[in-house]
Amino acid sequence: MKKTVLVSGGAGFIGSHVTVELIEAGYDVVVADNFSNCDRTCYEGVKKITGRKDLPLEVMDFCDLDAVKALFGKYHIDAVIHFAAYKAVGESVDKPLMYYKNNLLSFLNVLEVAQSTGKCNVLFSSSATVYGEPDAVPVTEATPRKPATSPYGNTKTMCEDILHDAVKASGGALKGILLRYFNPIGAHPSALIGELPRGVPNNLVPFITQTAIGKRECLNIFGNDYPTPDGTCQRDFIDIVDLARAHVYAVTRMIEGKMKKPVEIFNVGTGRPLSVMELVNAFEKVNGVKVPHKFAPRRAGDITAIWADPTLANTEMGWKATRTIEETLKAAWAWECRLAGK
Ligand code: UD1
Repeated sequence: MKKTVLVSGGAGFIGSHVTVELIEAGYDVVVADNFSNCDRTCYEGVKKITGRKDLPLEVMDFCDLDAVKALFGKYHIDAVIHFAAYKAVGESVDKPLMYYKNNLLSFLNVLEVAQSTGKCNVLFSSSATVYGEPDAVPVTEATPRKPATSPYGNTKTMCEDILHDAVKASGGALKGILLRYFNPIGAHPSALIGELPRGVPNNLVPFITQTAIGKRECLNIFGNDYPTPDGTCQRDFIDIVDLARAHVYAVTRMIEGKMKKPVEIFNVGTGRPLSVMELVNAFEKVNGVKVPHKFAPRRAGDITAIWADPTLANTEMGWKATRTIEETLKAAWAWECRLAGK
């Protein structure tokens, strides 16, 4: 029988790509979103890519416990992937209570209701932000977590802990996987779904594509005096489709009972460090466009360098990132061009 996966925040950037991969892998998917930080573009795009005109969509807020109960009453959910959360680091510093309330309450509600079904698998979207500024790179899952530097980061650390405690006390009703994402970038090769930042993008790649298309005048490269080979920060940029596929592996592992512990943690990265400057240069080269840029002071809270050791995900889940940075940056540009109607 087909298994059903609930994707909270399923109309957003990561959620929409994950929905596509789940459907293509043969799962039934229920998309749930309150559209607080996205519109219907990606939901419609997912339907086009997959041909699933009847893709269930529940417009709801996971902070509303009754709504979550009603959702789990309506569908038999075998696994839930929880994305529904706020994600802007800077905004979380200005509005900590809003971040704690939304990000914690929505996850608590999911866990409470998932547990009450008697058997459910929960995948939480965590972040490499939990490693803070690591003492050594690359980081493995055993690398110690560091105190969060923003309320956003803290909600990721706290939700990780909450999942551990909830699974432990659930008497087998809950199982969980924590995926720690590095820097997801790019777009679906169809250019029908991608990142849709509201206002001025905080993240690097949307800022690059918007500058290349002429929506922004100039990219500020935050800091060129870091102790890295070219002075700019290094990150593990991972293609959004590769990242989405990791969720299919993780969900299947949970549903098929292949987990070795009630809660497992996997880094979702490529293992390939790339500097901000290298990324900008690669983008210009592969797409044949200029990205006007200048060096600017360091951005508060940025860490110097982090990239994943993805060995555990490679060997245990059998998942590996396969897309090249050129493919990824081409897809990011194709998406921006499509948004601009070019
Ligand atoms: C941030 C969050 C991370 C989150 C991720 C989502 C932290 C510390 N980081 O990662 O948790 O999962 O976003 O994608 O919580 N840059 C520029 N100019 C720009 C924008 C960015 O030079 O206009 C640089 C930054 O200084 C940084 C790199 O590009 O060195 C990547 O920045 P960004 O895309 O914002 O991601 P992170 O800060 O790594």
